[in-house]
Amino acid sequence: MLLIKDILDQKPIGTSHSVKGWVRTFRSNRFIALSDGSTIRTLQAVVDFEKFDEALLKRITTGAALSLIGDLVSSQGKGQDVELLVESLEVLGDSNVEEYPLQPKKHSMEFLRENAHLRMRTNTFGAIMRLRHSLSFAVHEYFNKNNFFWMHTPIITGSDAEGAGEMFNVSVLDKKNPPLKEDGSIDYSQDFFAKETNLTVSGQLEAELGALALSKVYTFGPTFRAENSNTSRHLAEFWMIEPEVAFADLNSNMDLAEDFLKYVIAYALENCKHDLEFLESRLVEEEKMKPQNERSALPLREKLQFVADNNFRRVSYTEAIDILRNSKPNKKKKFKYIIEEWGADLQSEHEKFLVQHFNAPVILFDYPANIKAFYMRLNEDGKTVRAMDILFPGIGEIVGGSQREERHDVLLEKMKEFSIDPEELQWYLDTRKFGTCVHSGFGLGFERLVLFVSGMTNIRDVIPFPRTPGNAEF
Ligand code: 4AD
Ligand code: MG
Repeated sequence: MLLIKDILDQKPIGTSHSVKGWVRTFRSNRFIALSDGSTIRTLQAVVDFEKFDEALLKRITTGAALSLIGDLVSSQGKGQDVELLVESLEVLGDSNVEEYPLQPKKHSMEFLRENAHLRMRTNTFGAIMRLRHSLSFAVHEYFNKNNFFWMHTPIITGSDAEGAGEMFNVSVLDKKNPPLKEDGSIDYSQDFFAKETNLTVSGQLEAELGALALSKVYTFGPTFRAENSNTSRHLAEFWMIEPEVAFADLNSNMDLAEDFLKYVIAYALENCKHDLEFLESRLVEEEKMKPQNERSALPLREKLQFVADNNFRRVSYTEAIDILRNSKPNKKKKFKYIIEEWGADLQSEHEKFLVQHFNAPVILFDYPANIKAFYMRLNEDGKTVRAMDILFPGIGEIVGGSQREERHDVLLEKMKEFSIDPEELQWYLDTRKFGTCVHSGFGLGFERLVLFVSGMTNIRDVIPFPRTPGNAEF
């Protein structure tokens, strides 16, 4: 049995075929648009209503599962090259029109989120699912071609890689009556792992251990953040890609990130043509409701091509602060957070401004040490670290990374400053004692990448079942 994608690509005319799929529309009691999700395109199946029972035809409703057998012929009608002349038709699963939520009309994104168990059957979410797959595949292909090893870092951990304390606790203790220590705090020594554990916020620290043995590794797995950020850019559960490379400094880290992003975006352009074409027109429709100045400057695929073809702009934090301080929105107090002085943490409004200012993806580097994580390499100036963030148009931060502090004494000092117990991270410090070396890596939020490539506006709409504050349905 061929998938609809293969039938439409190969057009094996003149032979009989069996296809299975779900009805999108049935018009004039004659034309079925059948989808099996293998492609965004539907197969037109033509039924001669005189040949079939009226009762059977009545059951061809939107959402019903069908099995069809018929000859593939070239189509007389507009809109398709081939069509299936149905000889045998079986309804595998009925779909009651009165009850089925997805009728062939426009549904709001909010409605589709509430019906996320069915939304993969729509054009938009089918396209996003296929795009997610292709981008994941491109990620693995890129790293495999470049001699990286995929490393499976733990999902349950005892450490907080980012030191931000935004973790989901993992415990099997009796919540109503947990065992207590003498000081009244919970006694995790009696818990499943005999210590306090959490869902990981990042696989980086373990990936560093891998890089310092295998030279080049990457992770690609789920990460969890219990931050109460109800925005269109944040998920509580998201997938992260984290390459880590030994003997690589920040410059080669930036080169890697840029090359990698360009590769996966070009891959999607090449391999998701039909889906991107659809997503591009969807975005045009969506933006018709917006004022001109809020619409995308370029059509989706041109935007992607631009990013794939042009150099990212590399700008130091210090330069960026100067630009921001002298910017119109800062002087006219249009920013919510006015940039007063060097050392300020950048908000998404500032990141957006910088991307617009340079009219290209921007890599910011050398941030103040105190607004970045403990593991970043301290610069000779003693106040900045070898950090980098990549900012994308419409997205803001898509990548965060750094060169790592490889000096044992400096790292130990830093951990103390950040109130991190060196004993908890003894294994991490060990790598700085035995064959330490310059090394670097970064993290790419996979959903932010899918958001960018798909042109969707809310991160909840690029993952099948989003987890956000107050929501863990399905
Ligand atoms: O900047 P972050 O927090 O960096 C790290 O976790 C490092 N350990 C990465 C590394 O150097 N190996 O997160 C990295 C990226 C962000 O740039 C963003 O794209 C994404 O992860 N991200 C989120 N995506 C969706 N929802 C959230 N709540 C996210 N938080 C971070
Ligand atoms: Mg970050």
